[in-house]
Amino acid sequence: MKVLTVVGARPQFIKVAAVQRVLQADPLIESFLLHTGQHYDEAMSQVFFDELEIPPPNLNLNIGSGNHGQQTGRMLEAIEQTLMEQRSDYALVYGDTNSTLAGALAAVKLHIPVAHVEAGLRSFNRHMPEEINRVLTDHASDLLFAPTETARENLRREGIPEERIYLTGDVMFDAALYYGEKSDRASGILRQYDLTPKQYILTTLHRAENTDNKARLRALIEGLTIVAKTTPIVLPLHPRTRAALETTGLWAQAESVLKILPPVGYLDMAALEKNAALIATDSGGVQKEAFFYQTPCVTLRTETEWTELVEAGWNRVVAPLTAEKVSEGILQTLGARGKTIAPYGDGRAAEKIAQALKRHYDETSQIDR
Ligand code: UD1
Ligand code: UDP
Repeated sequence: MKVLTVVGARPQFIKVAAVQRVLQADPLIESFLLHTGQHYDEAMSQVFFDELEIPPPNLNLNIGSGNHGQQTGRMLEAIEQTLMEQRSDYALVYGDTNSTLAGALAAVKLHIPVAHVEAGLRSFNRHMPEEINRVLTDHASDLLFAPTETARENLRREGIPEERIYLTGDVMFDAALYYGEKSDRASGILRQYDLTPKQYILTTLHRAENTDNKARLRALIEGLTIVAKTTPIVLPLHPRTRAALETTGLWAQAESVLKILPPVGYLDMAALEKNAALIATDSGGVQKEAFFYQTPCVTLRTETEWTELVEAGWNRVVAPLTAEKVSEGILQTLGARGKTIAPYGDGRAAEKIAQALKRHYDETSQIDR
């Protein structure tokens, strides 16, 4: 049975690391790893292949950056070509990026079953490109791997047939368990940047609705400036946000009050997350990692897909509409603790995904292969 996996952006490298290890170890599964090239800087791509020991991609399409239609369209054409050449039995896609949608769309049109890892996530905000990518991918998929009960429920509500939905747990939890300890041994980032555990706030920002809206970006930087007067803020910076700060003239202020780092590798990021007093982020993955490491979190958005963390008190959604909202939201959350919950499975999501794929293959190969 041959599985062609499509990845392209940073969070997908972390997710694929957990799953690829299991697929690779299974003699019944032949794997083909396709990198779209959506992310291409060394610090946004290669570092994860090296640190997480992901096998090198069999093919990198080197698509690079572009407008949504242009980027997705170029991926679609090249992925279709590769799927036809490789004659794979499944296309495995992850998350909600343009690489996800292009992979799903190319495969479904060729009648190649699509398997979607992290299915059923919803923000219910159709202005987010990720929301469009998720909904379309889920509705093109044959196997939907839901990380949580909430995700499964979202899929049911949209009429996805029950037999297509698999509650597997979250592959990012698998990754945190597997690589989290390695980070304790391997990362020297706290020493490198002279950081004292629990005496700094970790921030990440890259969401389009924050970077592409000048008023929001200003509110965020000014809000963080207020907080940084009492607690240092560390900001490993996504290239998109760096560019936005430069073009909006906010770079000088940001640089003078925040400890801005280039994007860091996964092991350093885990160390920063574990030792932060609080994480303030607009990232999906970082919100969950905050919980895995029991660090309180503020989500700098108007909503979140990971609602169970808000309900349990681990995460607080703070819409970055004014500087005061941002600073008060962060300062009031310092020291918060949530309830004990375990919504992300048992750390064996990748194994459940591999088993579901093999079972599906066995069942359907008797019918129509
Ligand atoms: C993408 C995903 C988003 C995900 C994020 C993870 C979509 C629509 N968005 O957003 O869901 O949360 O990845 O990080 O797929 N750039 C570089 N070097 C790189 C990559 C990007 O400089 O290696 C810059 C380019 O200026 C580019 C911009 O970042 O135009 C945005 O990159 P893109 O991949 O389009 O979207 P992200 O914001 O990274
Ligand atoms: N991450 C990282 N280095 C960084 C920022 C993030 O390794 O400088 C990791 C983070 O630990 C998480 C993933 O990247 O595992 C999240 O990716 P990102 O925030 O880019 O995307 P999202 O999860 O919002 O789609």
